[in-house]
This record gives sequence, C-alpha cells and structure tokens, in this order.
Amino acid sequence: MKIFFLIGITLIGLTQAKDWWENGNFYQIYPRSFKDSNGDGVGDLNGIAEKLPYLKEIGIAGAWLSPIFKSPMVDFGYDIADYRVIHPEFGTMEDFKNLIKKAKEIGMKIFLDFVPNHTSDESEWFKKSVQRIEPYTDYYIWHDGIIDENGERKPPTNWVSAFRYSAWEWNEDRKQYYLHQFAIKQPDLNYRNPKVVTEMKNVIKFWLDIGVDGFRIDAVPYMFEIEADKNGNYPDEPINENCPNPDDNCHTKKIYTQDQIETYDMIYQWRELCDEYKKEHGGDTRILFTEAYTSLENEIRYYGDGKRNGSHVAFNFELISYTNMGSTAADFNKHIDSWLNKIPKDVIANWVLGNHDNHRLASRYGPARTDLFNIMLNTLPGNAITYNGEEIGMTDVWISWEDSVDPQACNTDPDRYYAVSRDPARTPFQWDASNLAGFSSSTNSWLPVAKNYTINNVLMQSRSPVSHLQVFKKLTKLRQEPAFQTKTLNEKIVHNNVLLYRREGKGDNYIIVLNFGKNSETINLKEKFPSITNKVEIITTSIQSKYTDGEIVDATKFVAEGEVGTVVVSV
Ligand code: GLC
Repeated sequence: MKIFFLIGITLIGLTQAKDWWENGNFYQIYPRSFKDSNGDGVGDLNGIAEKLPYLKEIGIAGAWLSPIFKSPMVDFGYDIADYRVIHPEFGTMEDFKNLIKKAKEIGMKIFLDFVPNHTSDESEWFKKSVQRIEPYTDYYIWHDGIIDENGERKPPTNWVSAFRYSAWEWNEDRKQYYLHQFAIKQPDLNYRNPKVVTEMKNVIKFWLDIGVDGFRIDAVPYMFEIEADKNGNYPDEPINENCPNPDDNCHTKKIYTQDQIETYDMIYQWRELCDEYKKEHGGDTRILFTEAYTSLENEIRYYGDGKRNGSHVAFNFELISYTNMGSTAADFNKHIDSWLNKIPKDVIANWVLGNHDNHRLASRYGPARTDLFNIMLNTLPGNAITYNGEEIGMTDVWISWEDSVDPQACNTDPDRYYAVSRDPARTPFQWDASNLAGFSSSTNSWLPVAKNYTINNVLMQSRSPVSHLQVFKKLTKLRQEPAFQTKTLNEKIVHNNVLLYRREGKGDNYIIVLNFGKNSETINLKEKFPSITNKVEIITTSIQSKYTDGEIVDATKFVAEGEVGTVVVSV
C-alpha cells in the first residue's frame, strides 16, 4: 500500500512537469517594421521567416505577430477586412505556411493576433450588415440615434472612441448609427449575437488548423457593451469632470463600454476551444495571451474563475502603466508585489515592458537603463514579453505631426499628438549599418529608420563582446536555470533606490541588483542575504558597469552603480 502511495506521488510529480510555455521569453514582432524581403519598404512574412534563426539564437521561445490579415491599414492591420486572408503587402498564405514550417523545424512557436472586438468597415460582413443581408444584419451594433429638442439627429449615447470623438458613426446606406470603439473604419462586432460568437470560433479553428500555437487577443475589455434596454436603447456613461473636452476619450467613465461581465466568459470559451483542440488533434498546448488595460482585479479574472480556465498569459501592464523615468525602487517593488500577491497561486506571472502601443523602453526609462530593465524582465518569475528591438535598446524616433500616420495621433491636435502617437515605437528594426538599417533594400520605408542605426544595430551588437544584445542573450540563457523556473521570488529588499531580490534553485543562489538611481551605493549583500557566499560571481551586468562577467567580487562591499542592473551568483 505504502509503495503504491509513493509511486503515485512520484507519478504526480512527473505529470506536473512544466508545460512548454510556462517560462518562455515571448517576442512581439511588428510585421510592417521587422524585415522587408521584397524591397517595398514594408516588412513581410518572408522577412520574418528569414530572421527566425536570429530569434532562436537570442533565446526566444515564441513570437506573436501583430495582425497580418487583409486590411485597409487604417489602424495598421488592427482593422481587418478578412480574418482568413493574408494582407498582400505581407505575402501570401503559402508564405505564412512556409513561416510556420520553418518555425516548427527550429522549435519556435508562432502566435497570431486575434482581433475580436471589431472588423474593418471593408469586411464583407460589415458591407452585408449595412445592406441588412442575413445572417449579417445584427453582426454589428446598430442604432437609429435620437432626435433632440431641435429635431436634430444625434448619436444614441455620449460614448467616446478610444481614438477620440463620438464612438457612433452615421451610415447613410443603412440609415443608422454603428458603434466603433476605435477608428470610424473599425465597426464593433456584436457579441450578443450567437452567430458572431460561432463565426469567431471558426476563425480560431481555421488558424489552429494551419498550425499556429496560439493567439494574442486584442483589446479584450471592449468586446461587450451593456445590453440595450427593451426599447433597444443604451445609457450615457457618467462624465469624468477631470477631462472636460467631450471629444477626448477620457471624458466618459467606461462603465457600459468596457469590462462587461460577459467578456470573461468569452475568454473561457476560447480557452475551452484551444484545450479541446489539443485533445482532438494532439500536439503541444495552444495558448492565449490577453491584452487588457484594466484594473488588477479584472485582469486576474481573465485567468479563470476557479471553475473554468481563461487566458494562459493575461498581459501584466502594471509596470508599463504605472512606472516611468522618475519611478523609484520602492515604486517598482510596490507594482511587482501588487501583481505577485494578487494573481492566483496556480497561474504563471508575466512581465511586459514594451509593445507597439507604448513608447520604447529605452526612451521611457532612459537609454542607460536598457539593460537594467531587460535584467528585471528576465529575472522575475514567469514569462517575459519582449517587443522587437528592446533587446538592442532601440529608442523612439521623432516623427513630425505632418508625417504621423497612427490614427490615434492623427485624431489629436498638433500641439499634443506626440504624447499619444504610437509611430515613434514602430519604426523599422535596426539589423545592420547598411541601407535603411538592413530592414529593406528600398529607398524609403513606411516609417523612417532611426538616425542612430549606424551605431545601434544587431550586427554591431552581436560582434561586440559588450552590448545590450549580449546581455539579453545571457539573460534568456540564465532563465533556463532551475532558480529561474520557480514561481517564487525569494527575499526582495529595497535599499534606497536599489531593488534587490534572490532566486534560488538546485543549489544555485542568485542575487539581482537593480539600481534605479543615478548614484552608486555600496551594499553588503551578505548582510541582506545571509544565505549567499562572501564572494560572488558576476553573471551579467549593464554594459556601462565597471564589473565584467565572470569576475569574482566581494559580496560584503558590492558597488551597485547608478542605473546599472547586475546578476550575481554565490560561488
Ligand atoms: C489594441 C492594439 C492597438 C490597436 C487597438 C485597436 O490595443 O494593441 O494597436 O490600435 O487594439 O485594435
């Protein structure tokens, strides 16, 4: 009996081995800007396929591609005209299949961007909905509008689009308003229509059949709006007094247009679909990443409700949303804790420091702190998410108001567009010092290449023994060590403007030292972490540090230099 019991325990131990996605560093590719293979100034699928070995070499577990589907490109692919067709600028379905094949050959996972909230107004679904052709009539949210006291027609509610101005647009053909929570050309789908739910599940299955490993799900909190009342009307949202301009998105509090309870169930249904797919077809777990800028409480619900599972990786935007250049070690400590303490014990943490919607890491926190943040991203427990270019410390590129193409910038006034423009973080990837940074053989790229490309590019950094890229590679390798595979952060300490934490596993004892301040601090690491040895070895450190990798230093007098991050290990 006892023997059976012991065998049982061992088996449970074995079956609980980590799933492939649990500790990966996942990489976001912005396809328009990654690599152009045909010289038209726009990145494409063959370009991505060509660079897969690079991703493998720098230790990436899988990459998600911002949308590659047929699109008028009003929101650069987030306005989809056909979920099943590859946008010609990116290539063909054959190219995509070839990309998947190559990725599988080298053990790289590929995820697609699934954009469920809206289509393009150039989608056949929308065109048929305008004409009330069944079954499309109610695929979108339509309303007659209201007639005001002067007999004028007005939008049904005060709802404001994320890109400014009314979220309702009049359609002259159907003689009704439709809802668009983003650009006018991005009509919101109606998830209260079961046909839309089925339709979108079929889209997921379509791409799973082609061999993708999962999806990043876009703009999740926007999927549902409050249900219309019995007369088909919707309520106004309360006004935010701190944001007086009615055209600004912040003018209304999003209690009826975001974070509706039904959203979570939809994510659970998609999770079920992916789990079922694995059961039926075998292969590795297909995973879901969810993009939701929302409260931590809501964020947690995407993981599941205790009975049903949801997202595998609910993007953690705590650091991106609440920290900046001036944030202190105490601030980072607080936001790391708030996430780690709130997520359910059985889920995997994740850390996001950059994406195509935010200013670049090096510009947000200062170029000198590029390595410090990459060290933090890669040494915290769980998944790390890297936006293309952050591994070499690419910076934002200034783009004039006249040259801006991002709809979020173009809908804003010239005197304040820069704060919201997403173009600066979307410029072409810097591969080498040749024409257009080796991104394209064309004379022009769709967004300008950063001027510093001759001194900041992959080729140069891979040839140099000391570079952001070398630090990054060390880190992705380090993540494979047992100490970084656990869910726990051992002690974590704030010392002035330095954040220190310990990761331990299989006899290895690592300390991570992150000095957010400008001044050096001499710290007795041994006193702070009694379990380490008196002497420690430098595993990796920011490029400007006076320490070198492999150097053995005195842990009792460790100099944490300003804006430097370092990983050391007990020897
Ligand atoms: C997501 C995308 C963003 C896009 C928006 C509308 O937030 O990341 O780029 O504009 O959704 O699809």
